[in-house]
Amino acid sequence: MPDAIFADARLARLYDSFDGPRDDLAAYLSIAAELDADRVLDVGCGTGCLAILLAGTGRTVVGVDPAAASLDVARSKDDKAVVTWVHGDAAAVSAARADLAVMTGNVAQVFLTDADWAAVLAAARAALRPGGRLVFETRDPARQAWREWGRPYADAAFKAVVPGIGGLETWSDVTDVSGEFVTFSVTYVFESDGEVLTADSTLRFRSKEAVMDSLTAAGFTVAEIRDAPDLEFVFIATRN
Ligand SMILES: C[S@@+](CC[C@H](N)C(=O)[O-])C[C@H]1O[C@@H](n2cnc3c(N)ncnc32)[C@H](O)[C@@H]1O
Repeated sequence: MPDAIFADARLARLYDSFDGPRDDLAAYLSIAAELDADRVLDVGCGTGCLAILLAGTGRTVVGVDPAAASLDVARSKDDKAVVTWVHGDAAAVSAARADLAVMTGNVAQVFLTDADWAAVLAAARAALRPGGRLVFETRDPARQAWREWGRPYADAAFKAVVPGIGGLETWSDVTDVSGEFVTFSVTYVFESDGEVLTADSTLRFRSKEAVMDSLTAAGFTVAEIRDAPDLEFVFIATRN
């Protein structure tokens, strides 16, 4: 089950407004061009920001996500229907024969158990052609990015006016840090009707070595690990 922040219809409509200018996506557009990838699979595509950009460069793009509410937002932005949207997890697109599969924006960190992580890697492998690439980001645990995510580490309450939704106040709390697992909750108070929605999420911060080992075990060869400016590793792995 995806977290409410992606699966609740009212919250999914907020995602793009609170996710900044998405400077992170340029790296994926460059990598797709570098690899000359024609068929691209966006696993955990969410509201479709990257999938739509990739399709705009002439690539054949499939976006898959288990959060129907986020896919509804994605479809509403894709007025020319340039992306194929699939409701499900990576196993739903095993016939894609993609040149490139990507996971952006926390997706690689939502799989909390080793079994779930191994399953998504196996599904991505099945969806890639031999020699195809899997590219994803995951935060370096040593950088402790959660220290900037909200109370008690930072004063993260603010008010905003979101077009089509109106005024709202939002804040986030980091509620637990246990080893590799960081849990946080985001609260939204809607001014129009006073509704208060809180969404809890847990992300797993795997070490670089653990990610490399899991990729090898899943039948990939790690080709490169790049540093992203926002404290993340970008893994580029080749399907064996
Ligand atoms: C932080 S969002 C990132 C969305 C998008 N990739 C982006 O960069 O904007 C994380 C996404 O992971 C999705 N997700 C959660 N569980 C998943 C699973 N088992 N398989 C694929 N995606 C999943 C969520 O529904 C959500 O859309």
